[in-house]
Amino acid sequence: MARVLAVFMLAGSLLASVSGLLTDEACPEDVQVKQGFSLADFAGRWYEYKRYEQFYEKDLDCTVAEYQPTGKNTISVKNGGFNFANNTRVVADGTAVLSFPDDTEQPGKLNVAFFGAKPDRSNYWVLDTDYTSYGVVFSCEPFYKDTSKNVLGFWIFSRTPTFPTDEAVVKRVDELVKKYGDASKFEVPNQSDERCPRSY
Ligand SMILES: *[C@@H]1O[C@H](CO)[C@@H](O)[C@H](O)[C@H]1NC(C)=O
Ligand SMILES: *[C@@H]1O[C@H](CO)[C@@H](O)[C@H](O)[C@H]1NC(C)=O
Repeated sequence: MARVLAVFMLAGSLLASVSGLLTDEACPEDVQVKQGFSLADFAGRWYEYKRYEQFYEKDLDCTVAEYQPTGKNTISVKNGGFNFANNTRVVADGTAVLSFPDDTEQPGKLNVAFFGAKPDRSNYWVLDTDYTSYGVVFSCEPFYKDTSKNVLGFWIFSRTPTFPTDEAVVKRVDELVKKYGDASKFEVPNQSDERCPRSY
């Protein structure tokens, strides 16, 4: 019997790309984002190298984020991955806008929301990227179900399925993880060519 890859959507806020690891701690202030950030250069496909486990992303491999410019300060967001437990492709469609388009101090901050929700909260912060090989994104915002807690997100992205081995890149990413993250909390999705259908 042919194996069918069902495409389906999970509902609403479950798929807000910015919901995962919970913390009682306050979100850090003065998060240093990428200076001179260019949304147009950040667009395109990113392979997820490491992430904090997001509950909607559980068991997902081959996870990619696809960003396409839709305006000067806006991009469309398509997050996709495969759940091999039941051979299902999971897709989340969203939109992102620059949080502070006129503030040159905070160019790498975005508001991201999914499934038609308004992207009205700055919740996606590009800590660093060289646009061509790696990107590091951090997120912290109140948990929608219990605002006494914050939800943390951390994504290390690569332009290719395998992460660059360049020493300077590896060192820079380590530095950012030490500053804003917790290396012990990362999930590493399988991005191997054998495992991942790359037809999407
Ligand atoms: C696939 O499995 C996940 C849990 O592992 C479940 O959440 C999802 O609904 C399943 N999808 C289908 C189409 O059965
Ligand atoms: C990734 O998936 C491939 C193909 O299913 C498998 O051979 C490989 O061992 C997996 N890699 C890891 C690190 O689990």
